[in-house]
Amino acid sequence: MLSEKLVERLNHQVNLEYYSANLYLQMSSWCELNSLPGCAQFLRQHADEEIQHMHHLFKYINETGNMAVIGEIKAPPTEYKSVVDVFQQTYEHECYITKEINNLVRLTLEEPDYSTHNFLQWYVAEQHEEEHLFNSIVKKIELITEGSGKRLFMMDKEIKRMATEQQKLVKKRS
Ligand code: FEO
Repeated sequence: MLSEKLVERLNHQVNLEYYSANLYLQMSSWCELNSLPGCAQFLRQHADEEIQHMHHLFKYINETGNMAVIGEIKAPPTEYKSVVDVFQQTYEHECYITKEINNLVRLTLEEPDYSTHNFLQWYVAEQHEEEHLFNSIVKKIELITEGSGKRLFMMDKEIKRMATEQQKLVKKRS
């Protein structure tokens, strides 16, 4: 039996995962318009993953006999200074999501609710992977882009390769 507070916090996380999906999808559009199809593919795929994160939570809330609620989701930004800015923002966003997951985990220990605590461990591990993934992309872009169009082109190819690898990994897991 989940407390009202926990249901509310889990639904808040549903909303955040939805926002993450919209944010990455919006960023993919910016990349398409700036001739970076590899980055666009990577971000589109990641938006799909965020939808899966949302569904996973949604199902869990329903399984506990509570109402999963989709609240109002704010619109993501549409303007970015550069591709470094795009990926820097993805990294900062993931760090924010990690904090929110940590707050949720803390609440399950305060209550206590060990079943939800156990359920959330998947998100704890996932956030570790996501922070590492986006931070490594920021570092790579910073390394290989210094205003040269050719380097930017090579960088996009590298991100496309990573997107394909990620896709294979997701297929293997499902
Ligand atoms: Fe669902 Fe990227 O965190």
